[in-house]
Amino acid sequence: MASSRSYSFLLFSVLLSSAGTTVTSASCSRADREALREFQSGLSDPYIGIFTSWTGEDCCAHWYGVSCDPSTGRVADLTLRGESEDPILTRAGRSGLMTGRISPAICRLDRLSNLIIADWKQISGPIPSCITSLASLRILDLVGNRLSGPLPANLGKLSHLTVLNVADNQISAQIPKSITQISGLMHLNLASNHISGDIPSDLGNLKMLSRALLGRNQISGKIPPSISYMNRLADLDLAENQLWGSIPAFFGSMPVLSSLYLDSNRLSGLIPPEILGSKGLGILNLSRNELTGLIADVFTSRTYFTALDLSYNKLTGDVPKTLSKATFVGHLDLSHNHLCGRIPAGLPFDHLEAASFASNDCLCGWPLQACRS
Ligand SMILES: *[C@@H]1O[C@H](CO)[C@@H](O)[C@H](O)[C@H]1NC(C)=O
Repeated sequence: MASSRSYSFLLFSVLLSSAGTTVTSASCSRADREALREFQSGLSDPYIGIFTSWTGEDCCAHWYGVSCDPSTGRVADLTLRGESEDPILTRAGRSGLMTGRISPAICRLDRLSNLIIADWKQISGPIPSCITSLASLRILDLVGNRLSGPLPANLGKLSHLTVLNVADNQISAQIPKSITQISGLMHLNLASNHISGDIPSDLGNLKMLSRALLGRNQISGKIPPSISYMNRLADLDLAENQLWGSIPAFFGSMPVLSSLYLDSNRLSGLIPPEILGSKGLGILNLSRNELTGLIADVFTSRTYFTALDLSYNKLTGDVPKTLSKATFVGHLDLSHNHLCGRIPAGLPFDHLEAASFASNDCLCGWPLQACRS
């Protein structure tokens, strides 16, 4: 989340600095000003006073959070964040809180490129479905509110979208199928909502996607094979859903995949050896599934895991010997399985605690009790 924010901040700064210094800027379009006022009247901000600067005619000049295309006076950016280092918040000495709804009047700002209404905690009601008519939209960030209802079905119309973040709301229903038409989408964050149904089978059409965060929802079905085509995917979070079926081996050969969270689902079968032996994966969490079989003995000196969590499964066999060849294993959790045998000695284990191996069938050796023979 943090990096998608700094990313949008960067884009915003570029937008501002490219807004020329030579021409005198056009002042606020009257239609946009009226749309902004209608938007404002749908919200109540009892603590911060975000809207106190929204006075006078020129919404492009000093209205908090509003910036315009200086050549047209049309609103291009609306950024209202309830949690930031902004003086308006630090002066208030607290993070923001707003109630109310996002008025459909927002859809009349039809030159909007960035729409960020983030972390106000109690803005409720639906995401206006007319939002899909904002054809220039690049960043849509509504994280951290209490928005409910479905994502608009024709979301795919937002063909310039690069960032879609509606995490930490109460969005329900399915992921709209049309989402896979947004070919330039780079960051997709739908985490911590009430989304159900399957992952669209052609999600892999999103070739530019680098972060796909869908964790903490009620998503079911299998992991779609098309994900293997996402050559820029670095972070995939499908944790705390109701996914079933097996874990595809292709995760082990995706070119830039570095974190994979599949924990707390109903995934079964073996852990593909390709994944454990992958050179790029630094975080792998498969905890709390129904995985069975052995942990493949495929680790090498190129193994480097900041976190490897295979706890709460039904894994059998021993702790693989080659794991001691790993260059680094920061956090290892193999607890609550059916492992048995001697824990291999070696460097990456030196800092581990007994909890990493607790509640197995018959493991022994440091950091557990000594083996008998
Ligand atoms: C892995 O997932 C489990 C269950 O969702 C969670 O409790 C655990 O903290 C996670 N482990 C790491 C290293 O993030």
